[in-house]
Amino acid sequence: MKGIVLAGGLGSRLFPLTKITNKHLLPVYDKPMVYYPIMTLVEAGITDIMIVTGGGHAGNFLRLLGNGHEFGLKGVNYAYQEKEGGIAEALSLTEYFADGDKIVVILGDNIIEKGIRREVDEFAGQPEGARILIKEVSNPERFGVVEFEGDRIVRIIEKPENPRTNYAVTGIYMYDSRIFDLIRELKPSGRGELEITDVNNIYLKKGQLAYSKLDGWWTDAGTFDSLLKANQLVAERERGTGAKDEGRKESG
Ligand code: DAU
Repeated sequence: MKGIVLAGGLGSRLFPLTKITNKHLLPVYDKPMVYYPIMTLVEAGITDIMIVTGGGHAGNFLRLLGNGHEFGLKGVNYAYQEKEGGIAEALSLTEYFADGDKIVVILGDNIIEKGIRREVDEFAGQPEGARILIKEVSNPERFGVVEFEGDRIVRIIEKPENPRTNYAVTGIYMYDSRIFDLIRELKPSGRGELEITDVNNIYLKKGQLAYSKLDGWWTDAGTFDSLLKANQLVAERERGTGAKDEGRKESG
């Protein structure tokens, strides 16, 4: 299984913090943001990793991460996304790297309290298809939101105005090798991006989308408030002063 960290995009919601650096290089407590998704992959046993980045500061990833020895990696692979074409477009750049293997994808601004080893093991045992990780949040309208019939997911809506559940799709996704053919079928959304939610809905329609509920807190760090929150949550975890999962479910 291979790991992919998506760290492209312009980080425009964090302007001017992102005027002279890439969003994923900003600090979250005592480390640059991109360290956290890399550590999540490594701790789950995934050490063959590609980072997709873009924009004018991409060279700084190489300066920061080098060959990944700090994370116990033998090397790091890099891809460059020319434009902010969406998460699925960024992912399409990793096809040659995936080379027919299953992949675990993490958005470069997603930080979690615990690990994903259990979920990765579940996916390893899944013969085909995709697996998403979902989490109950207090502000679902900011995310992809799942709708259920019983225990079964029947629909995923990207940033719905009136979410029908509080379950957000986190930025941790697992796919079989057919993902790249599915991305080729996508059309840009209203915001001009190839949406990962469209890919997940295709897997869903084929009856091949599994899910796990993520244990522990989860946050993104792509807005001023969620970046602040991420700093607080990580600081509390590192100091051992964090409240447990309850009441910490938001990515606001
Ligand atoms: O954080 C989870 C959410 O991430 C999901 O619930 C949503 O379904 C999903 O669409 C996504 O929503 P966002 O609007 O928060 O995504 P954003 O545009 O902020 O991008 C998140 C990360 O994806 C970003 O830190 C880097 C990567 N990315 C994004 C874009 C648009 C790229 O690598 N390239 C891109 O072109």
